[in-house]
Amino acid sequence: MRIVSSVQEMQRQSREFRPRSKKIAVVPTMGSLHEGHLSLIRLARENAEIVVTTVFVNPTQFAEGEDFTKYPRDIERDSLAAESEGTDILFVPDVEEMYPKGFRTFVEVPGLSGLLEGKSRPGHFRGVCTIVAKLFNCIMPDVAVFGQKDAQQVLVVSKMARDLDFPVRIIVAPTLREGDGLAMSSRNVYLSPVERAEAVVLYHSLQLSERLIGNGERNCRLIISEMEKLIMTKPSARIDYVSIADASTLMELESLQRGDVPLLSLAVKIGGTRLIDNLTIKVP
Ligand code: PAF
Repeated sequence: MRIVSSVQEMQRQSREFRPRSKKIAVVPTMGSLHEGHLSLIRLARENAEIVVTTVFVNPTQFAEGEDFTKYPRDIERDSLAAESEGTDILFVPDVEEMYPKGFRTFVEVPGLSGLLEGKSRPGHFRGVCTIVAKLFNCIMPDVAVFGQKDAQQVLVVSKMARDLDFPVRIIVAPTLREGDGLAMSSRNVYLSPVERAEAVVLYHSLQLSERLIGNGERNCRLIISEMEKLIMTKPSARIDYVSIADASTLMELESLQRGDVPLLSLAVKIGGTRLIDNLTIKVP
């Protein structure tokens, strides 16, 4: 595995693969790689000859007061993990490389970016779209792999790629969960043992909604209120949002119809740690 930290060198490497018709897949990450990320790298491997994993904690997608400075970083561990899954190039630029002095240009997808996560974290998707567009320009991938856990990110990035004609196929990997159901996340390391035990309530609330829908409940407000009641039984939990929305427009739904495939998503603070999770369900 080669470790590349400059944009110029990354572009040079990618251009070298082109004439040999080598398909390139990128797995963009902010590092602190866990089994969920490794499953993205494996999926990338299945879909391309060359896998580029990126590790960059992107400052522009963190709002003031969020966890940018304390976000877990361990590049040695990440390199070993990325290499063991078959990464060919680990792209690890620093902040000055990606945002040199005088940087002014941002990419935005209004509408979709202002809902759910975007409502709670203004500017978040502007930062995500900007860095993903830059990574696409550095790596020139044929395929990009993102995790379903960040369902809204998948929608926003796919829209950006379409609108800006990036010739990239977006592949979505299923959410990987711990044994008790908690979605894998780099932020899980922030949780105290008590919070870790309570954090599984996010998944339990999604399972509850699945049961309610399976039993014929179609009223979204009622389903959300049952999910919220369950979450609030955990002393460390503070709900940011619980949503049942159209899976492509993210517009909130009042009621469900047979055959709908809504996106059920939520963000909950467990102690000081903000966690997200989601599920798509086909309404029977
Ligand atoms: O999902 C993430 O880890 C980040 O949002 C991404 C896509 C790497 C952009 O910084």
